[in-house]
Amino acid sequence: MKILILNGPNLNLLGKREPEVYGSQTFDDYFAKLQSKFKDVQLEYYQSNIEGEIIEKLQEFGFSYDGIVLNAAAYTHTSVGIGDAVKAIKTPVVEVHISNTHKREEFRHVSYISPAAKGVILGFGLQSYELAIMSFLEVSA
Ligand code: DQA
Repeated sequence: MKILILNGPNLNLLGKREPEVYGSQTFDDYFAKLQSKFKDVQLEYYQSNIEGEIIEKLQEFGFSYDGIVLNAAAYTHTSVGIGDAVKAIKTPVVEVHISNTHKREEFRHVSYISPAAKGVILGFGLQSYELAIMSFLEVSA
């Protein structure tokens, strides 16, 4: 199982950025934990502050990987291009957000990703990523 975690703008500042909203852990530290938790999953991680680079990564991984966990950050609320890329690829995309965007400003209630996503997980802090990875794994009841 191959899963890409793709983070958008300003998420490289996790740990320093508005810790009251996004917590105090860096993504690199969290990613190391994810790798040890999901040993059987080949996890790839990429972050960019540039819209076109996020689209390029979706195109690059979106025909061979089993899943993409996408936090497009602020581009979620503005980017027709990222929404179109999610529609264009074959790999299912789960949209995640650290914060509950619906509890926040109104402009964060709009997502150009959701209509094309397999599902959306938001508001669980960094645990949102873990829940998204789990959604790709087969669970037996
Ligand atoms: C975010 C929510 C977005 O509204 C915001 O622009 C971000 C992070 C989240 O993970 O909660 O940068 O995607």
